[in-house]
Amino acid sequence: MRIDIVTIFPAIAEAPLAESIMKRAREAGAVEIHCHDLREYTTDKHRKVDDIPYGGGPGMVMKPEPFFACVEDLRTPEAKVILMTPQGSAFVQRQAENLAREKHLILLCGHYEGVDHRVVEELVDLELSIGDYVLTNGAIAAAVVVDAVVRLIPGVLGDERSSEQESFAGDGKLLEAPHYTRPVEFRGRTVPEVLQSGHHAKIEQWREEQAVIRTRENRPDLLE
Ligand code: ADE
Repeated sequence: MRIDIVTIFPAIAEAPLAESIMKRAREAGAVEIHCHDLREYTTDKHRKVDDIPYGGGPGMVMKPEPFFACVEDLRTPEAKVILMTPQGSAFVQRQAENLAREKHLILLCGHYEGVDHRVVEELVDLELSIGDYVLTNGAIAAAVVVDAVVRLIPGVLGDERSSEQESFAGDGKLLEAPHYTRPVEFRGRTVPEVLQSGHHAKIEQWREEQAVIRTRENRPDLLE
C-alpha cells in the first residue's frame, strides 16, 4: 500500500509513523508512506495556503489551489482521497478494516477554520473525523488513521490473532477483558484465580463476563 499525507506540518505526521511497528512495516515494504508539505504546491512568493472566509467569521480558510495541485500530482487511478476534518464521518475500526484493503490513500489535512469546500466537492472521496473534539491540525488525526490502518495490513503485526481478538474487531461491540502479567501479587492485589487455573473454558467464560462489565462501565453506548 502507498499512503501520501498532505499537510503544512509534515514533521507532525511523520514523527509517530517513524517508530515501532510503523517503522518496521515501512522497512519491510508492507507500506510506503510519504508526508508532503502543502506549501510546496503554492506558486506565490509567500507560499500562502490560507485566506479570509467569504461571508465573514473568525479564523482563516485553506485555499483550494495548493490542494488541487498536490492531488493532481499525487493521484493514481486507484487512489482514495480522504480529508481529515472534525466535520467528517466517524473513523471507527470497521472503516480502518475497509481502508486496509486499499492500494493508495491520499490523506489531506486541514488547519485553521477549515478547507475551501470546492476541495471536498471535487477532490475528496471520504471525510473522516477521529472523534468529537477539535485538534489544532489534521496531521495528528492523519497519523492516527494511518497507524490504525497499517497495523491491519497482513503481516504487519507479528501475531495476527492480536488484531482479531481486540476491542472493536469484526462485529465485536464489547471492550476487551482486563489483562494481567507477573508478579501474581502486587501491592496487595492478586491476579484473578481463574486466570492462573489453566482451565481454558473457564478463562474464556470469565473474559466474556468481564468484557460486558467493562463495557457497561466505560462505554455503555456500545451496549445500547
Ligand atoms: N482536524 C481537527 N480536528 C479533527 C478531528 N477530530 N478529526 C479529524 N481531523 C481533525
